[in-house]
Amino acid sequence: MKVTKAIIPAAGLGTRVLPASKAIPKEMLPIVDKPAIQYIVEEAVQSGITDILIITNRGKSPMEDHFDRAPELEQRLLASGKQDLYDQIVDLTKIANIQYVRQKETKGLGHAVWCAKPFVGDDPFAVLYGDDVIISDNPACGQLCRAYEEFGLATVGIKEVTAEQILKYSSLKTEPLRDNLFRVTDMIEKPKPDQVLSLYSILGRCVLPSKIFGILENTKPGAGGEIQLTDAMLQLARTEGMVGVDYVGTRYDMGNKLGILQASIEVGLKHPEIGVTLREYLKNLAKTL
Ligand code: UTP
Repeated sequence: MKVTKAIIPAAGLGTRVLPASKAIPKEMLPIVDKPAIQYIVEEAVQSGITDILIITNRGKSPMEDHFDRAPELEQRLLASGKQDLYDQIVDLTKIANIQYVRQKETKGLGHAVWCAKPFVGDDPFAVLYGDDVIISDNPACGQLCRAYEEFGLATVGIKEVTAEQILKYSSLKTEPLRDNLFRVTDMIEKPKPDQVLSLYSILGRCVLPSKIFGILENTKPGAGGEIQLTDAMLQLARTEGMVGVDYVGTRYDMGNKLGILQASIEVGLKHPEIGVTLREYLKNLAKTL
């Protein structure tokens, strides 16, 4: 079954990037000239997604404004002959069918996904974490959707992390399937060093069947008193198995300070307008470090 729906949980408090994220959602922090959420929506659309639900909360309205018409600005751009910019901002408002729902309390990623139940219905759906921007010529979400369509099992985006990092992430038990595809049969969240199953962790993207809602309904709050999506995924892994896709692409964690800087520099280096100048600047700066 073709995956055409996606949800973007973007209702977190973003405490790791305070005070920047106090009045501006971290999903609106820019990478060069586009906010993080735009990269994520574009990736979904390039992956074949037509309907997107963004999970928001109080204070996240700049995201809604970003994908909405802006008549005054549009008229000003037209009047001053800036047709290219006008086209860009108007096209953005037609990029997909984007809807919003508020997560009324910040009760965790699992609870945020739960808020999408009426939107999802009985269809499979992609989840693109609102603070994970993945840059790739082959959209990462699409790589997962194609695997879901082939195997019909929950599919998770996976990447190897360091032995130190895995203690803070989820560690997956994996068996090779083919190429960059794996079967995932077990997982453990924040393992002790002797509990690590592999250095593979779930990062940034997954595609889930609607049966996840039945599991989430019975998932008790876990770490930090929040309803964890990984606790629900664990049940799927142990009962029917999941597919892991070691996706091709570079992931930037926009929920942490270093990730934001890395994204700006690396995306900036490839940017047609500023790439060359930025390269020269960095080379000169490096000499002084
Ligand atoms: P994070 O745990 O990285 O986001 O959640 P956070 O809570 O904003 O981060 P810190 O730790 O306070 O800095 C991963 C994704 O899930 C969303 C976040 O917006 C982020 O995109 N999320 C998290 C929700 O939508 N609702 C929640 O209750 C928790």
